[in-house]
Amino acid sequence: MQVFIAKDAAAAAAIAADIVENVVRSTPRPRIGMATGSTMVGVYRSLVDRHQAGALSFAESSVYLLDEYVGLDPGHPQAFRNVIRTDLADHVDLSNDAVFGPDGRAPDLEAEARRYDQLVTEARIDIQLLGIGGNGHIAFNEPGTPFDAPSSVVALREETRRDNARFFGSIDHIPRQAITQGIGTILQAREILLVALGPHKARPICDALEGPVSVDTPASAIQLHPEVSVVLDAEAASLLSAARPES
Ligand code: F6R
Repeated sequence: MQVFIAKDAAAAAAIAADIVENVVRSTPRPRIGMATGSTMVGVYRSLVDRHQAGALSFAESSVYLLDEYVGLDPGHPQAFRNVIRTDLADHVDLSNDAVFGPDGRAPDLEAEARRYDQLVTEARIDIQLLGIGGNGHIAFNEPGTPFDAPSSVVALREETRRDNARFFGSIDHIPRQAITQGIGTILQAREILLVALGPHKARPICDALEGPVSVDTPASAIQLHPEVSVVLDAEAASLLSAARPES
């Protein structure tokens, strides 16, 4: 595992974008697993800047979402498919039909989770971007989720709904369920890139990187993967005990 500690969020976003750019440039038809959430906004902005400067093309890339809320209207701005469009796809040469995600309005949600799991497994993701929840979740795999659980329909914990209330104006508007890639599905990616910013991520990052591999901290599963980069700002890195130089 390679851990990069940047002085601030902007520097962290640039390092993460460098890692993604490297995969996009060196892979014939790159398949990129994308997370949503505030952490990724700067990373995607940096990728858009590179594209607009003529330095990076996504024409050959396809994107696979980590997760999706259940029940949101297709046009809802917080539906993750729309978030990826607004933050990235609309500004780069990535075609709309190259963005894949679970359908949170499918009539049979469990069947939809199975369909998406198979799609992601067959695609074999080249690089999977991950954020981390305040409770250590990755995607919407909350503490206690077995690492070998496939993609599934999950209930969101109250703390996750509270954390994400900022995107919806009020906790009352946040869906109670999501379809999420399973941890086992995520671990199939060839490479994983976890990004965390801010002091509220210091505890889950310390648990994930230095604690035992445990379902209590879903993100600790990345210790089981051979190709992991973790990009942190100084605040998110503040509880790590191992001495690591700033990048
Ligand atoms: C989003 C996702 C979540 C977020 C995590 C961190 O697709 O799967 O696991 O990555 O909740 O969210 P932010 O970046 O908003 O702190």
